[in-house]
Amino acid sequence: MEQYIIKGGKPLKGEVEIGGAKNAALGILAAAVMTDDDVIIENLPDVRDINVLLEAIGEIGAEVKRIDRHTVKINGGNIKEVSVDDEYIRKIRASYYFIGALLGKYKKAQVPLPGGCNIGSRPIDQHIKGFRALGAKVSIERGAVIASAETLSCAHIYFDVVSVGATINVMMAAAMAEGRTILENAAKEPHIVDVANFLNSMGANIKGAGTDTIRITGVKRLHGTEYSIIPDQIEAGTFMCMAAATRGDVLIKNVIPKHLESISAKLIEMGNEVIEYDEAVRVIGAKYQRHTDIKTLPYPGFPTDMQPQMAVSLALAEGSSMVTESIFENRFKYVDELARMGGNIKVEGNVAVIDGIEGFTGATVNAPDLRAGAALVIAGLCADGFTVVEEIGYIQRGYECFEEKIKGIGGAIEKVDSEKAARKFMLKVS
Ligand code: EPZ
Repeated sequence: MEQYIIKGGKPLKGEVEIGGAKNAALGILAAAVMTDDDVIIENLPDVRDINVLLEAIGEIGAEVKRIDRHTVKINGGNIKEVSVDDEYIRKIRASYYFIGALLGKYKKAQVPLPGGCNIGSRPIDQHIKGFRALGAKVSIERGAVIASAETLSCAHIYFDVVSVGATINVMMAAAMAEGRTILENAAKEPHIVDVANFLNSMGANIKGAGTDTIRITGVKRLHGTEYSIIPDQIEAGTFMCMAAATRGDVLIKNVIPKHLESISAKLIEMGNEVIEYDEAVRVIGAKYQRHTDIKTLPYPGFPTDMQPQMAVSLALAEGSSMVTESIFENRFKYVDELARMGGNIKVEGNVAVIDGIEGFTGATVNAPDLRAGAALVIAGLCADGFTVVEEIGYIQRGYECFEEKIKGIGGAIEKVDSEKAARKFMLKVS
């Protein structure tokens, strides 16, 4: 089984390039099948979740052509199937975006219910509420969501919960519904705006994405487009925390600083220096960092996907910090792993109290999910001695060339798949 071996203790220095946003790309790839014309998508991250969704798109009959590692051409003209195979939804939840895309274009869709995952139950009741409001008949049969409609017509939909997935999914279906649909209490993440911009570049009429009220005037058909995905704010934030936690000095390039404001603000509160450029941020980690409190909230609040990475930085700051996870119910699984490295964190319900320590010691730890896995790598880069991170498949779902990018800023990390390779690396860096 592949694992990361990390020798910690070295401040990371240099420059790192951020890739396209995974969570924008997943919605955009699903939306790409809503036209019979060619769609070219650039700045696609080469990560497992994206590659699985591309396989699923091919499976339902669309033409998928890789132009290069980060560019794909899709043509949904020959789609025969509106039923997505279970194996894809089991691998990635985001396959549920096919419901909104196929319902919008073909007025029918059948997609297996996504399971929960390590960070929480992940219901899709708000997605279903939106589809039904647009006039679709939606049933759950034999573990699948089956949606169909004679026609989709406009509605005024108020989401009970701010949901990224429901906002994107219902926005796609409404883009080809009759009349003007209004989504209230919509999510405002940068990736929502990116999906809306993508749909508008295909001829949709969506206004207000990025605010909590989105107005969508349905169109009969969508046309082809060429589109480039925005930079990944969470990959960028992960490297910002890496720079701060290792007391390094890293220039993080190809970012939109505005999307990183809540992360920059917290790192500055802790005493770090964050310098913003047009398309880059530089993070200089302070030797002594102060505690602060974090509460995860929908954008523009502090992102839940940055909670584990920030917690690692706080674990090495002076004093006691409080981290409140208000989005998911089970996103502190990394705490037990950090305890093996000397971390001092107590979890009560959705609050973690972090007492800063001098430093981590290396240990063997298990990545419990994608972002917690990245956080454990950050802890390993700060630790005294060697850390082995297992279950790194989670990390590869959302980070392209993670170990190569870390090596590029001086991190001592290797991906190995045998004891022998691990020993070889340890000898090399000792
Ligand atoms: C997206 O998940 C992201 N995934 C998650 O990133 C991210 O953590 C999350 O948004 C929040 O920002 C993708 O975009 C593929 P939600 P999503 O619907 O859409 C509740 C990562 O690390 N809810 O915004 O599933 C839900 O239980 C992943 O890249 C309902 O109650 O999240 C949660 O408490 C992890 N009913 C809250 O809303 C619904 O119908 C926010 O969930 C939908 C959601």
